Amino acid sequence: MANRMILNETSYFGKGAIAEIVPEIKRRGFKKVVVVTDAGLIKFEVATKVTALLAKAGIDFKVYDGIVPNPTIENVKDGVAFVKEAEADCLVAIGGGSPIDTAKAIGIITTNPEFSDVLSLEGVADTKNPCLPILAVPTTSGTAAEVTINYVITDKANNRKFVCVDPHDVPIVAFIDSDMMMGMPKGLCASTGMDAMTHAIEGYITKGAWEMTDMLHIKAIEIIGKSLPDSVKGVQTAREEMALGQYIAGMGFSNVGLGLVHGMAHPLSAWYNIPHGVACASLLPTIMKYNKDFTGEKYRDIARVLHVAGIEEMSIEEARDAACAAIDSLSKEVGIPATISELGVKAEDLPAIAEDALRDVCTPGNPRDTNIEDIIALYQSLM
Ligand SMILES: NC(=O)c1ccc[n+]([C@@H]2O[C@H](COP(=O)([O-])OP(=O)(O)OC[C@H]3O[C@@H](n4cnc5c(N)ncnc54)[C@H](O)[C@@H]3O)[C@@H](O)[C@H]2O)c1
Ligand SMILES: [Fe+2]
Repeated sequence: MANRMILNETSYFGKGAIAEIVPEIKRRGFKKVVVVTDAGLIKFEVATKVTALLAKAGIDFKVYDGIVPNPTIENVKDGVAFVKEAEADCLVAIGGGSPIDTAKAIGIITTNPEFSDVLSLEGVADTKNPCLPILAVPTTSGTAAEVTINYVITDKANNRKFVCVDPHDVPIVAFIDSDMMMGMPKGLCASTGMDAMTHAIEGYITKGAWEMTDMLHIKAIEIIGKSLPDSVKGVQTAREEMALGQYIAGMGFSNVGLGLVHGMAHPLSAWYNIPHGVACASLLPTIMKYNKDFTGEKYRDIARVLHVAGIEEMSIEEARDAACAAIDSLSKEVGIPATISELGVKAEDLPAIAEDALRDVCTPGNPRDTNIEDIIALYQSLM
């Protein structure tokens, strides 16, 4: 079977990259822009760095800022109505994964209105048309939603997060600018950074991994391992490296899928509104250990790029344990919660949550085949 690679069309990297947004909008002839973002990013003057550029250039734009973390079906439907009313010909998505993912769903439904119930987009939807063009400006260094073919929406009525996979949703231009990420508080920087590390590790060991995605994921693990602690401390150069590291991870996992960390994280966010990065980060060290015997030499590779001393001399067992220990220690260093009970997870909910995790679209990518008993036990070990 052929391996498929899909990436976004154009990306600008580096401090100050958002200066390219006005020339890109003009060059492509867009006339009416809807900015998709969240209210916090307006209030804390993050999204306004971009809207100020649009205003100064005389570009006609309107702002839809109703998106919440773990964005909902209602966010998407309201956004579709907003975009229709504005007669927009492109979207500028500014934010973490939540606004960028919502912009993808809005953009897809605008050009494929037969999916306007939103729920029918779950999994691989048979959309016929590319979404309304999206220019994406990430403000967290985690999800890489600006380069991936995925988006994740929450069905609040049924306590579910569902993943949609659709090459038609990829933003046409992305601006990976560390200035947009400097405002992240420490906790957000740490959890979104560990989300990116989870993408890189799950993408590296997932069943569909191959040479090209291995190349991307191992580099991402190296960059994130080196820069995350300083990025959390607010060092600009480290935030810049993280911006790149998370993007490289996205180039990979978008094309091969993830694994059980994401499968088990999605229901935690759906049930308790736990931020995605926090959910992934608290699960990663435990699930790495669960998977270790199903990873060949890959944990040695991970430990090597995390600069674990003496890695070449270790037995495969020792090397696997060393990789797990290195991620455990990185996670502790950046202040990730060690249990899920402290995130509000209730023991009596675990059997039902585990059912959702088993059904999640990310779970089959896990290198170790799993089952309901193992998933319940994994959750319980983190209580
Ligand atoms: N599309 C994908 O491939 C993909 C991959 C992983 C996760 N996701 C999804 O993305 C969502 C999570 O996105 P996220 O972790 O980036 O966070 P988010 O977009 O949910 O934002 C979380 C909070 O951080 C704030 N924030 C964002 N940037 C900030 C900044 N620079 N300064 C100050 N505050 C800032 C926001 O206002 C918000 O309150 C989840 O729904 C998750 O499932 C998508
Ligand atoms: Fe993620």
